Amino acid sequence: MRIGILGSGLMGGKLGTLFAQAGHQVVFSYSHDDKKLERLARRAKAQAGTPAEAARGADAVLLAVHWSRVDDVLDQAGALSGKLVLSCTLPMSKDDSHMVVGLTTSAAEALAAKRPKANMVSAFSTAPSEVLFSVFAARQKNTKKETRPDLVFCGDSSKAKKTAARLIRDIGFNPVDVGALSIARYIEPFSLLAAEIAYEGKGGPQLTYRFERLKTG
Ligand SMILES: NC(=O)c1ccc[n+]([C@@H]2O[C@H](COP(=O)([O-])OP(=O)(O)OC[C@H]3O[C@@H](n4cnc5c(N)ncnc54)[C@H](OP(=O)(O)O)[C@@H]3O)[C@@H](O)[C@H]2O)c1
Repeated sequence: MRIGILGSGLMGGKLGTLFAQAGHQVVFSYSHDDKKLERLARRAKAQAGTPAEAARGADAVLLAVHWSRVDDVLDQAGALSGKLVLSCTLPMSKDDSHMVVGLTTSAAEALAAKRPKANMVSAFSTAPSEVLFSVFAARQKNTKKETRPDLVFCGDSSKAKKTAARLIRDIGFNPVDVGALSIARYIEPFSLLAAEIAYEGKGGPQLTYRFERLKTG
């Protein structure tokens, strides 16, 4: 698949690198620093470009920017009609102290309203960026789904969710479809809990996906 990365920071840089290592064609975009995009692209044997170039011809795009940058990056990326948009973006205030969307809606639903012709899927927000490379490295060993860390995702298009599940599996997680996009109202606060466990707790980031597994096991 061709995958456009909108936001090449901690999440976009790592997920884009892993999608490329899993055999997909990746275009990194949206950073303050074009040299960083080129460096990421060189290391991952991928490409660097503008958000419009990343979105053009993409089968899927990953939206991985701070909530305050969403309108800017979407304006640059265009309509994204018919495309799978995987979003790990959380609706945080500028100083990251609290969520600015929630209870009766979610960032994922607000994004879907901004891009009604795209197929929005909420995924990856529950996985701190620190765990991504080690989950990928262990995927050859963890071939059975019971041994892979769970990763919840939700969306309204079954076709888009099938593609999302494949991408989630490609980088070493066990995809767990938790339903319609509106379920993101529960995933997003859970993601903050996961981050709290990862960064403030004593168990380290890997505890977060063990916690996810508890739910299903
Ligand atoms: N980090 C995590 O573990 C994690 C986990 C779950 C969910 N999330 C969510 O995922 C999203 C991305 O998080 P992140 O940690 O990857 O953020 P990040 O490291 O700050 O990355 C954001 C990207 O946007 C770029 N950017 C910001 N402002 C820009 C501007 N004015 N012009 C051009 N580029 C700009 C940054 O550029 P630079 O490359 O120059 O910095 C960076 O590449 C957020 O919504 C966050 O809440 C993060």
